[in-house]
Amino acid sequence: MSKLLANIIGIGSYIPEKVFTNQDLARMVDTTDEWIVSRTGIKERHIAEINQGVSDLAVPAITKALTQAKLSAEDLELIVVGTCSPDYPVFPSTGCVIQDRIGAKNAAAFDVSAACSGFIYALSIATQYIENGTYKNILVVGADELSKSLNWQDRGTCVLFGDGAGAAVLAPDKTYGVLATHLGAVGSGWKHLLVPEGGTKQPLTKAGLENKKNTIQMNGKEVFRFAVKAVEDSLGAVLAKCNIKKEALALFIPHQANIRIIDHAVKHMGFPKDKVYANLDRYGNTSAASIPLALDEAHREGRIKKGDLVGVCGFGAGLTYGAGIIKWGI
Ligand code: UT7
Repeated sequence: MSKLLANIIGIGSYIPEKVFTNQDLARMVDTTDEWIVSRTGIKERHIAEINQGVSDLAVPAITKALTQAKLSAEDLELIVVGTCSPDYPVFPSTGCVIQDRIGAKNAAAFDVSAACSGFIYALSIATQYIENGTYKNILVVGADELSKSLNWQDRGTCVLFGDGAGAAVLAPDKTYGVLATHLGAVGSGWKHLLVPEGGTKQPLTKAGLENKKNTIQMNGKEVFRFAVKAVEDSLGAVLAKCNIKKEALALFIPHQANIRIIDHAVKHMGFPKDKVYANLDRYGNTSAASIPLALDEAHREGRIKKGDLVGVCGFGAGLTYGAGIIKWGI
């Protein structure tokens, strides 16, 4: 009997309406469009409204994915949400909020905390359940709103991130689907990208609030170094797992954090630039949403066709990383 693959039968994405351009940011902090474009490739990003939770971004993305999959929410047996910016602190999980919002009453639901690698981690988990026959129809979401955890006075971080959501519906198939995933973590680097206060280790204090310790703090240079290596190592590992040469990939979609990270990694790997997808100029780093958002756009633009081999790779806080090879099935 041939192995069951977790096939993506529907994909959708959503980004909030409000746009912040580099020029807008230059009016808020000491920066310029030229600096942001040359150091990151980002020109603009979308920012959620104050009362718009991450589930509000995820639901429209999920609706599109379910429509394409020709499934109803009640067909879903599991919802796995990659996010590090849940609707509510501590609990409930955003997965449960989404389950209620879309009426997926037959689905178990939980969140995965792997920051910008959240979608790849969630996809890898969902894939196991399909391959071992436990579930048939699984919803995988990657959604984040890091705008709510940014220090809008810190020019080193506030220019990098944007909000968004992406969703994929998975179902078993004998020909198309996720051929392999590879996950990893370098926990010793946890301190390079963190929100220092507001958790159990350091509950938020009045002084912490005044000093913005409840916002993202990053050692950009360390994260950059880690990311370039993570892209190369994880793509190499997952290609080796399925015995595929990088030349066989029709498209490579790395996490959309910084065009310089992508350029460095693909140059070092000797990967052709015209087979690398990038949309970070319009969205910035949307964290766990970045890969499903790019997959959805690339598919709608005709850059991915049925039968194509697509490489995806994520990296982020943790430090986490992960990659996958998908034989595209829609
Ligand atoms: O999903 C993972 C998320 N994280 C990342 O992807 C971050 C990875 N790291 C990076 O992308 C880069 O490290 C950054 C884009 C964050 C920074 O680029 P860099 O080339 O490493 O710059 P730097 O941190 O070394 O800063 C160089 C200078 C500094 O000024 P001085 O000390 O040389 O006077 C910064 O203060 O650039 C300054 N700077 C800025 N200047 C204008 C930092 N941010 C800005 C800014 N506008 N927005």
